[in-house]
Amino acid sequence: MALSKEFLWGGATAANQCEGGYLEGNKGLSTVDVIPAGKDRVSVLKGKMKMLECDDEHFYPSHEAIDFYHRYKEDIALFAEMGFKCFRLSMAWTRIFPHGDDTLPNEEGLKFYDDVFDECLKYGIEPLVTITHFDVPIHLVNTIGSWRSRKMVDYYERLCETLFTRYKDKVKYWLTFNEINMLLHLPFGSSGLVFEEDENEEAVKYQAAHHQLVASAKATEIARKINPEFKIGCMLAGASTYPYTCAPEDIWRAMTRDREHYFFVDVQSRGEYPNYAKKMFERMNIHLKMEDGDEELLKNNTVDFVSFSYYGSRLTSADPAVNTQTAANLFPTLRNPHLKRSEWGWQIDPLGLRITLNALYDRYQKPLLIVENGLGAVDKPDENGYIEDDYRIEYLREHIRAFKAAVAEDGVELLGYTTWGCIDLVSSSSGEMSKRYGFIYVDKDDQGNGTLNRSRKKSFNWYKKVISSNGEDL
Ligand code: BG6
Repeated sequence: MALSKEFLWGGATAANQCEGGYLEGNKGLSTVDVIPAGKDRVSVLKGKMKMLECDDEHFYPSHEAIDFYHRYKEDIALFAEMGFKCFRLSMAWTRIFPHGDDTLPNEEGLKFYDDVFDECLKYGIEPLVTITHFDVPIHLVNTIGSWRSRKMVDYYERLCETLFTRYKDKVKYWLTFNEINMLLHLPFGSSGLVFEEDENEEAVKYQAAHHQLVASAKATEIARKINPEFKIGCMLAGASTYPYTCAPEDIWRAMTRDREHYFFVDVQSRGEYPNYAKKMFERMNIHLKMEDGDEELLKNNTVDFVSFSYYGSRLTSADPAVNTQTAANLFPTLRNPHLKRSEWGWQIDPLGLRITLNALYDRYQKPLLIVENGLGAVDKPDENGYIEDDYRIEYLREHIRAFKAAVAEDGVELLGYTTWGCIDLVSSSSGEMSKRYGFIYVDKDDQGNGTLNRSRKKSFNWYKKVISSNGEDL
C-alpha cells in the first residue's frame, strides 16, 4: 500500500523560533522572549532559574530569530518550490492578545497570520496550526502564575475562539498544545510555571496539566461549533521507551515511563483519566481540583487525530547503577549501544519511529500525523556557500522508510509528515542557530551575526523529489 495522494508532506516551525519581530505590530512579551541562549538556558527552561524579563547580560534568540516576520513570503515561496502540501506553524499568543487577558484581539497580529495563510493557500499549501508552541504571555505568568491558575482556561478559550472565527475558511488542521507532555520536563519552557519554595512541584505540574487538558477539550468543543470541518489534534513528544534488559523490572520500568507520556494523550484521545494515573495521584498525595462538568467535557471532546514529534527512542533501566549512562536527548534516556548519535548526542533510531507509530495506533486507533522529525547538525558551506548535507538526507530517508513500512506493512493510518525546522531556525533546547535542521540554510550564527540570506542545501532538491514521487524516490 503506497501513501495516499492526499498525504501531507511538508515542514514545521514554531513562532518563537523563526518569527523574530518580538515586539513589532503591538506584540506583547512572552515567556519565550525572556529565555536566553547560553549556559543559563536549560536552568530557565526547567524552572530552576527564574527569569521573567530581559537583561543586558544575556542574548535572547527569539527577538530576531530568522526574521520570518518580514521574510515569510520568500520562505513560503521556497517551501512551495519543494512542493510542500502542508506547512506547520504556530501562533504567537502575544501577537493576538499582547497581555493574554486583553478583551479585544490585536488586529495587526491577526492580519499578519491572515497574510501568512493567504501566502500558503496561494501555492496550495495547507496550513497546520499549533495554537501554542511553548509560549505564554509574560503578563499572565506575573499576574496569575500561568497554567497553575484555572483562569488560563478562559484566556486560552478566548484565543481559540478568536482564531477559529477569524481563520475558519483558511485553516482546517489545528493542534492545541505543542508537546503537551513536555510540561513535566520543562515546566517553565513549555508552560510558564515558576515554583515557590517547598511546594509540591509534581502537584503544581499535574494541576497545570489538568488545566491544559480542559483547555484543549474546550478548544475542540468550540472548534466543532465554529466549523465542523475542522480537524483537531493533540501533540505529544513521542518515542517509545525500551527496557535496558529483559529483566521484568526493566520491562515494568519502561512501561511506566511510557505511561508518563501517554497520560496526556489518554485523556485527550480517550476522554478520561486512566486508572493508572488516578492511582499514581493517590500515591503522590496529589488532589486535582476539578470543576463540575470537567469530566463530561473531556469525555465529549476527544481529538480527531494524534500528532507527535519523534527524534529518537528512549531507554531505561530499573538498576540505579545502569541509570548513570545517560544520553543527551531532552528526555531522560540511557545510552543505547545499538544506536548512533547526532552531534548533540541525540540517539538516532529510524525503526523506533515504526515502533512508536504502531504503539500509538494500537493504543488510540486514530489517524496519526508525524509533525516533527529531523537531524540537528552543523552545516559547513563550501567555497560556493553550498551545503552538501548527505547526513541529513540519510537520516530523513531512513525515517521515511520506517513510516512507509508502518503504513504499508502494519496498516497504520498516517495523515502526513512535516519535518522539523524545514528552514534553519533557533534551537529550542540550546538557543543556537548552529543546530540546523533545514533544507534551507539561513546565514546567521549563534551570536546573532549574519545576513539572514536564505539558500538551498542539497537536501532541498532531494526532498522536492521525495514529495513529487510521493515518497517513492528516496
Ligand atoms: C521539539 C520542539 O521538542 O523539538 C521544538 O517542539 C524543538 O520546538 C525540537 O525545536 C528540536 O529540539 P531542538 O532543541 O534541537 O531545537
